[in-house]
Amino acid sequence: MSGDTIAAQIEIGKYSQEQQESFDYQSLEKILNKYKGKEGVIIPILQEIQEVYGYLPKEILVRTSKKTRIPISQLYGVATFYAQFHLKKRGRHLIRICDGTACHVSGSPKIVQAIENALEIEAGGSSPDYKYTLEIVYCVGSCGLAPVAVVGDQVYAQTKPESFVRTLKKLE
Ligand code: FES
Repeated sequence: MSGDTIAAQIEIGKYSQEQQESFDYQSLEKILNKYKGKEGVIIPILQEIQEVYGYLPKEILVRTSKKTRIPISQLYGVATFYAQFHLKKRGRHLIRICDGTACHVSGSPKIVQAIENALEIEAGGSSPDYKYTLEIVYCVGSCGLAPVAVVGDQVYAQTKPESFVRTLKKLE
């Protein structure tokens, strides 16, 4: 077993603690059949998997590796290299809090803290019910509106911890 493979297995172990899910493997078969015998298809395969499952589940990557004979370390290497891919299940609402300099001095740490406390979530993670995922980002280019939060594609300006948490709780 190569060092890469071992490293990939250790890394994959980090996110294998998540709840066991049953997956619709038929959708995976369709994706893999579409790219059967073609070269240079790792990225499109991963993109389609993520489109179907919302992220790249370990079980799906393992099966993809077996079916395509692409080493799991290679799939995992691509998945971790590109920011567009997610190895962890994500919440229905993606909350991005800007902690760039302007937002930081305007109070973004308090907003992060308020969200973490109110929604049982840690920055970089998801709430237990997978309603929310919280990410910290660094400058979204709207420093004049600091502190800035983005939920989905909606931008919130001059956010205040309590009122922003109230807004989040109202999301379906
Ligand atoms: S630092 Fe937050 S938008 Fe620029």
